[in-house]
Amino acid sequence: MQTVRLALIGFGNVGQGFAQILLERANDYADNLGVRFIIVAVNDLLRGSAFNPEGLELSALLQAKDISSLPAGTAGWDAFETIARSNADVVIELSYTNLQTGEPAISHVRAALESGKHVVTSNKGPVALQYAELSALARSRNLQIGVEGTVMSGTPSLHLGMELLAGAGIQRVQGILNGTTNYILTQMENGASYSDALAEAQIRGYAEADPTGDVEGFDAAGKVAILSALLMNTPLRMDQVDRTGITGITRSDVDQAKAAGQRWKLIGSLEKNQDGIFASVKPVRLPFEHPLANVNGATNAITYTTDLLGDVTLIGPGAGRMATGYAIICDLLGIYRR
Ligand code: HSE
Repeated sequence: MQTVRLALIGFGNVGQGFAQILLERANDYADNLGVRFIIVAVNDLLRGSAFNPEGLELSALLQAKDISSLPAGTAGWDAFETIARSNADVVIELSYTNLQTGEPAISHVRAALESGKHVVTSNKGPVALQYAELSALARSRNLQIGVEGTVMSGTPSLHLGMELLAGAGIQRVQGILNGTTNYILTQMENGASYSDALAEAQIRGYAEADPTGDVEGFDAAGKVAILSALLMNTPLRMDQVDRTGITGITRSDVDQAKAAGQRWKLIGSLEKNQDGIFASVKPVRLPFEHPLANVNGATNAITYTTDLLGDVTLIGPGAGRMATGYAIICDLLGIYRR
């Protein structure tokens, strides 16, 4: 039995969802998958930090308002001390996403790799902005970076694209890549106001800390940039993604589309041809018969158009604490079951 020690940087929605999954399933993973995951360190800007080399007790961790007050271990380390000084095998980077600078997450990821630890992250900033550099650093140290949670939360869209379709010749990627906006559009069609639907998306843990990133299309644009870097080997700056969000769409637009047998969807798109890569995020009116028109709520979908297989579509959860928590498990199993 292999024991894998984890340090969490950030303990918001995703970190808590991940800890909850371990609380419920760590024994099952140990018995059936041969790996025991323990959380030895947590650092959170708002809730404090704690380190116990033998593992923190998960139910106490989940209930603690002040993590530093947990029994046993060292308290009060900052993020970089937690990364460098804990005995973790893997640093799980879950600080707030910043798609302009990627910080502080980029520095956390670098520090983790430089101290010989694998990295798993659902933070879109470092992956959208510096994936090539960070994965080169990881390779040079024989370490891995898991990034599954950055697109479609725990639905394994990136493993599908990067591994299973790597030889199929991906030419185009299209999808519903943001859970919050899809949830809002669905709720508006069901009669809710825009602001009530957004508030509910925040309560359910779908939205970013600043939901402007969701509704103005920045989050989906970041995911399009991630898909370009990971699947088409072409890093894009955020301003290279032609972006429109959903804030211009009114209840009456939604009702008019419905009356015409159509539905508004925020579609992210990436296309490669001889002139280069074209990337966009914009609201599109789709007929009810279109497969993406029937992907509702916080569910996301991605269609890979490939040379060899034609279209391959994956549909599944796109946001939420447990769904994104599962992405971390998916990456950890990718590292430790290989
Ligand atoms: N805020 C994001 C969304 C979270 O709504 O899709 C998942 O990346």
